[in-house]
Amino acid sequence: MSRYLYQNLSSGELDRLHGLEAIEDPKTIECLEVLNPVDGMSCLEVGAGAGSVARWLADRVKPSGSVIATDTDVSFLDATAYRVWEHNLRTDVLPAETFDLVHIRHVLIHIPEREHASVLRKLYESLKSGGRILIEESDLLSWEVDSQAPSGLAQRFRAGVDRTLTCYRSRDMLVDLGARLEALLSSSGFVVRRSWRRWRSVMGGSPEAMYQRATALQLRRSIEDRDETLNDFAQLFANQALSYRSRTTVSVFAHKP
Ligand SMILES: C[S@@+](CC[C@H](N)C(=O)[O-])C[C@H]1O[C@@H](n2cnc3c(N)ncnc32)[C@H](O)[C@@H]1O
Repeated sequence: MSRYLYQNLSSGELDRLHGLEAIEDPKTIECLEVLNPVDGMSCLEVGAGAGSVARWLADRVKPSGSVIATDTDVSFLDATAYRVWEHNLRTDVLPAETFDLVHIRHVLIHIPEREHASVLRKLYESLKSGGRILIEESDLLSWEVDSQAPSGLAQRFRAGVDRTLTCYRSRDMLVDLGARLEALLSSSGFVVRRSWRRWRSVMGGSPEAMYQRATALQLRRSIEDRDETLNDFAQLFANQALSYRSRTTVSVFAHKP
């Protein structure tokens, strides 16, 4: 039960990843500005997806710095802008004491909870002394339909959220990982410096809702789901009568002493 749920199974996967970047990048960049990556730094972008943050970091640390972008699937990464490694965070090693800055967003949640401590320790060991990490993950428990939504829609939305969370839990995925990040980092030896939380009010049919629609359809394909709950959930996101509170993204900045 360890296969990544959102593997590149459909022609829409690059668009889905760009949708995620459009939602998250503005706040991620605000957080990264606080960490202030500068010329000469050595950076690691883990599970880089479509690579927007790797590209931003590469612009910031040039000309003498370097960025390595890793992923199990590197097909959307641009080796002309930064270095690209095909790398599985669960099973592959990282070089020791190498990086000044590590960024990882929406990747740890896809790794079973029983492996979190060893994966965080691997990231810790890869940092130089004094090196910093920005880790960003979801707390999916804040995902809730608006109280003003028509009751039929609300019921269908809650059924879709339940189905999604049940599926994640059955794969040992921690659905409130964001809320636990600070404690996890502390117990792996990091010193937590600052954290940020963000969520949005989302309308059906908006770009964020359409990202969520693509995600529900991808989940359905991935688990070969035969009942209609996830399909119905996906269709709801296009309905302009829907409004909901998004999942919360928690960003935590910590350093290695
Ligand atoms: C939800 S996407 C997030 C992409 C990017 N970090 C972002 O926030 O825009 C998760 C990414 O993690 C990658 N991934 C999943 N499991 C991984 C693992 N064990 N090691 C490295 N990358 C992994 C996936 O291939 C995918 O690109």
